[in-house]
Amino acid sequence: MKTINIANGPQNASAIIQGCMRMPALTKEEGAKVIDTAYECGINFFDHATCYGNGEAEERFAQAFPLTGIKREDVYIQSKCGLCFDRNEFDWTKENILASVDDSLRRLNMDYLDALLLHRPDLLFEPEEVAEAFDALEKAGKVRFFGVSNLMPMQIELLKKYVRQPLNINQLQLSLEQSQLIDQALYMNNKTTELSVSRDGSALDYCRLNDITIQAWSPLQFGMFGGTFIDNPDFPELNKALAEIAEREKVSKAAVAIAWIMRHPAKMQTIIGTMDPQHIKDACDAVKVKLSHQDWYALYLASGKFLP
Ligand SMILES: NC(=O)c1ccc[n+]([C@@H]2O[C@H](COP(=O)([O-])OP(=O)(O)OC[C@H]3O[C@@H](n4cnc5c(N)ncnc54)[C@H](OP(=O)(O)O)[C@@H]3O)[C@@H](O)[C@H]2O)c1
Repeated sequence: MKTINIANGPQNASAIIQGCMRMPALTKEEGAKVIDTAYECGINFFDHATCYGNGEAEERFAQAFPLTGIKREDVYIQSKCGLCFDRNEFDWTKENILASVDDSLRRLNMDYLDALLLHRPDLLFEPEEVAEAFDALEKAGKVRFFGVSNLMPMQIELLKKYVRQPLNINQLQLSLEQSQLIDQALYMNNKTTELSVSRDGSALDYCRLNDITIQAWSPLQFGMFGGTFIDNPDFPELNKALAEIAEREKVSKAAVAIAWIMRHPAKMQTIIGTMDPQHIKDACDAVKVKLSHQDWYALYLASGKFLP
């Protein structure tokens, strides 16, 4: 497995992260198989959120983890807070951040998180309160590193004015079919296409300039949660291009789609979500794939883009 050193953060972190959003659907034995398979493939980083299954993902992980025999200190466990579906609001108050971490630790049956991310912006957030919460969590030894998710550069700057800890992770959506993070730079100033619209304040360049590691979520999905484009008849050109490279590299199409993210020089981590052990192995083959400069563009074009 390829590893990544996150600046001022987790070192030797696997370039592929196992996301646990879909874990509530599993038994604890199935959950253990997912964790074991991922770990055997070299994944040492697991992503959670308080809202996944309304806490059930963290609970299932805690039931499954002891069955694997993996030591707590040999893996990075990350969770996210602030997205409160149960209350129909986003909440970055100090009170909620502190309570969420305590809830996550109780559900995970662990005494610290390696990383805590603020999941999506609370439009009413007060950075001074976030700073107080982070200080308290760091002082109590409950969280080692801090970051954000789905956050625009200026919101990160606002946080940084008050928060003392480095914010070294931004979790953002990126796949061949959901590639606006990359598109906007290519089509800049082009009135004829929606692809030129800057929707994230140049988050990609900002993160690279500030040594913030991007964790690309939903690498095989189209739309927000449209489903996967792999083997999906609605994406014939893309599947054809993926299949050609997959055959050449002797890996799956999913591996090629993930390798396309890894080929980008921003040194991102990719968060996979499958709960199928064979699909986890297939995804991890991404690290073996050698994509040329031209391969990368061929896949990009096959996903429906054009060169301006
Ligand atoms: N920060 C955020 O706002 C945010 C939002 C969403 C997700 N996330 C994180 O990102 C993680 C990944 O999200 P995701 O599950 O949407 O990512 P994903 O890996 O893009 O999608 C997983 C889906 O793709 C399918 N799939 C995987 N490999 C396949 C293959 N070889 N062939 C066919 N289908 C395949 C899976 O089906 P099978 O189960 O059949 O393999 C599953 O339905 C989550 O667990 C979570 O940790 C973060």
